[in-house]
Amino acid sequence: MELEGARTLVVGAGGGVGAPLSRALVEAGARVVGTGRDPGSLDERVPGLEAVLALDLLDVTAARAAVDEAAERLGGLDVVVVASGIAGFGAVEELDDAVAEQLVAVDLLGPMTVCSAALAHLADPGQLVVLSAILADQPMAGMAAYSATKAGLSGFLQALRKEVRRRHVGVLDVRPPHMETGLADRAIAGEPPRMPAGYDVDAFVELVLRGMREDSSELVWDPREKGLVLR
Ligand SMILES: NC(=O)c1ccc[n+]([C@@H]2O[C@H](COP(=O)([O-])OP(=O)(O)OC[C@H]3O[C@@H](n4cnc5c(N)ncnc54)[C@H](OP(=O)(O)O)[C@@H]3O)[C@@H](O)[C@H]2O)c1
Repeated sequence: MELEGARTLVVGAGGGVGAPLSRALVEAGARVVGTGRDPGSLDERVPGLEAVLALDLLDVTAARAAVDEAAERLGGLDVVVVASGIAGFGAVEELDDAVAEQLVAVDLLGPMTVCSAALAHLADPGQLVVLSAILADQPMAGMAAYSATKAGLSGFLQALRKEVRRRHVGVLDVRPPHMETGLADRAIAGEPPRMPAGYDVDAFVELVLRGMREDSSELVWDPREKGLVLR
């Protein structure tokens, strides 16, 4: 995907990953519309956004409307990035139903809805870039619900890739390891287990952009290489 001039929507543009990724996209010459739940400060965090839209993924109707509005503002869409997400911790035995519901809504149903809505607007060639997690491949005790949403999202993206291959729509499933973005501290429930040292966010963003440029399908942790690899 050529990023210069790419009409791009970033859902969760103010996040620990979303903000540096959006800034890198703007620097690469993409035309970026960003979303946040409280979009007030987004312009400061990501200078150069073409527009800022309010979006809470708990509302799937609003998610579809935000994709439509971004497409209208940009005159179509070449790239849609889903960089939003929440974490939740705790043993399955103590799983709170409301917490599970919120994790599924924000981390699985929300991204699925954004991808579905985007297909009506994506150009040929177009690209979907979605943040899943290493937990899709390596689920962890104490993080079962969060792991399940990420594994579910990864499965959704695999099936979607098969559906759109004739349309020249690329699907990049990004499954990073732990990074020090503060996601775990903002968890909606429980305490995070001890995490390894976080992967460098700037290096990660650089790899995502490379994957986008090279039309990769996955950015994943390779246990043999002990590093992130593009496929
Ligand atoms: N950080 C890690 O260690 C790590 C590892 C693997 C995968 N990931 C995944 O990477 C993605 C980004 O994580 P991050 O580290 O950047 O987390 P973060 O810094 O906490 O950012 C989370 C983003 O999600 C948005 N968000 C949260 N709840 C939302 C909702 N209800 N509706 C719409 N947007 C919502 C936030 O938007 P607001 O601006 O509105 O708050 C923010 O932009 C997530 O999918 C996460 O699961 C992260």
